[in-house]
Amino acid sequence: MKVLKTIEELQNVRKSITSTVGFVPTMGALHDGHISLIKQARNENDIVIVSIFVNPTQFLPTEDLDAYPRKDEADKRICEMCKVDYVFMPEISTMYTSEEVLIKAPNKSYILEGRTRPGHFDGVLQIVLKLFGLTQPTNAYFGKKDAQQLSLITQMVRNLFLPINIIPCEIIREADGLAMSSRNVYLNEVQRKDSLLICKSLYTAASLIGKNELNSNVLKQRMNDVMSTLDVEYIAIVDRDFNEIENIELKNSIILVVARFGNTRLLDNIWV
Ligand code: PAF
Repeated sequence: MKVLKTIEELQNVRKSITSTVGFVPTMGALHDGHISLIKQARNENDIVIVSIFVNPTQFLPTEDLDAYPRKDEADKRICEMCKVDYVFMPEISTMYTSEEVLIKAPNKSYILEGRTRPGHFDGVLQIVLKLFGLTQPTNAYFGKKDAQQLSLITQMVRNLFLPINIIPCEIIREADGLAMSSRNVYLNEVQRKDSLLICKSLYTAASLIGKNELNSNVLKQRMNDVMSTLDVEYIAIVDRDFNEIENIELKNSIILVVARFGNTRLLDNIWV
């Protein structure tokens, strides 16, 4: 495995590759969720590139950019174990020059996550587009946990005619159900225990849907009941294009939850 730091190094490597490239963009602090993306990329491509870059433009000034967990050495070991070919770990000054042309994410980036984090998706699309330009992947792997991010990246690739397959990957959960996230380390013991109500609410919705309860308001109400002790920021029921829907459309809907635990926001969802 080779660690690349500069644009030139990555561009030279990319020029030398003539077979399929699987790309997994990350912000590091790799956990089993990332590992499952990397393993899938490893299975489906000749060459695997992982990027590790805590992207400043997707954090609001009030957010946890400085506190965001950084585990470069452990991350490199994980990539090595997963038989990654190249890890790209640039400095901020490598990825951003002083004369940036900003990417403007579409209007749908200002709902749900984008309402709480205005501008967040501009930063995400900005860095993902740069990374796509550098790695020119055949397949790029994203977790379904960040469902709105996945949807906006898929749209960007479609709208810009980029020849890249966006591969959505399943959410990986702890044994007790909590969706894996690099931010779970911020939770104290009580919050960690309470956080299970999030996936419990989603399982409750899934079970009601199994009994043919498809009305969004009813489902939201029952989920709110399960999470009555939590600080729930939103429950949303959307179709796969992120339009809010009054009734579940089977195989075309996503139920999203965000709850706050102190300064930590936890996201989870199920695709139904
Ligand atoms: O999902 C993430 O970790 C980040 O948003 C991404 C896609 C690596 C862009 O910085």
